[in-house]
Amino acid sequence: MFTFISGATGGLGKAYAEYCAKSGYDLFLTARSEERLSALKDAISAKYNVNIEYFPCQLTDDASRKELIAHIEEKGFKFDRIINVAGVDTQKAFINYTQEKVLFQIRVNCEATLMLTHGLLKNRAEKTEVLTVGSMSGVSPMPYFAIYSASKAFLASFFTSLHYELKKDGVKVTTVLPGGIPTRPDIIEEIKKQGLGGKLSSHPAEFVVKKSLKAVKKNKIICVPGAFNKFLYCMMKIAPKRIVLSFIAKRWVNHGKDAF
Ligand SMILES: NC(=O)c1ccc[n+]([C@@H]2O[C@H](COP(=O)([O-])OP(=O)(O)OC[C@H]3O[C@@H](n4cnc5c(N)ncnc54)[C@H](OP(=O)(O)O)[C@@H]3O)[C@@H](O)[C@H]2O)c1
Repeated sequence: MFTFISGATGGLGKAYAEYCAKSGYDLFLTARSEERLSALKDAISAKYNVNIEYFPCQLTDDASRKELIAHIEEKGFKFDRIINVAGVDTQKAFINYTQEKVLFQIRVNCEATLMLTHGLLKNRAEKTEVLTVGSMSGVSPMPYFAIYSASKAFLASFFTSLHYELKKDGVKVTTVLPGGIPTRPDIIEEIKKQGLGGKLSSHPAEFVVKKSLKAVKKNKIICVPGAFNKFLYCMMKIAPKRIVLSFIAKRWVNHGKDAF
């Protein structure tokens, strides 16, 4: 059994890699940094007896993505699981972005996720699972977190359609919508700033990994890990849009992060 993971060197990607290796899956890892990929391979190999391949890729670059897919085809790798983790969560007022940063975030979150999924599904194993990391931030538009929120809504919408397109072929397609995950120091700080709401909505990466892998096994369309997030998910669907949006705008106007 073979698992492909993008964004493998990040907090959540590593947790997926570790959990899949522990379950006996061979791994194919990608991210930009060859050094971090190699270190991750060594760390996992020291603990688990699985084969680990990696290939660095700049996901914003079409040529780099094509090299990655060509390498996979040349090696004849076919994945039983495709886990789309890579994502950029830059958060600030739209007007404060540079044009390059706007493109960067959309390319990593949307364009690259679709292009990789397309390339990998063309050469898939017989019963492939496709798991994509969305976000609770995509459930409602979010002023001051607008690009991220819209990109995650795009992913949830796209992979919901794909779920139905591929059902007949035995391919399982799930999008997971986590709340906060304490991965990077700036995210840990951000969760603290959000007070009780942040605490109730956030979960360790390992929790999100277990819940989402279980969900894709069951071929769920959407997975929302945690009881509080499930409650928020339902509330955001039924609450009047204007009230939700002005609440979000007031709450997020002074928050910001840019780790990329
Ligand atoms: N942490 C949270 O609170 C939270 C909540 C909900 C959803 N999510 C989602 O979960 C996913 C992972 O988040 P995380 O917290 O683990 O973030 P992270 O630690 O910053 O990891 C991001 C990963 O994406 C890779 N990446 C970024 N830009 C790339 C590019 N241009 N080309 C190739 N790889 C790139 C990074 O590797 P390199 O830097 O080496 O390229 C890294 O492996 C993201 O999709 C995020 O939106 C996170």
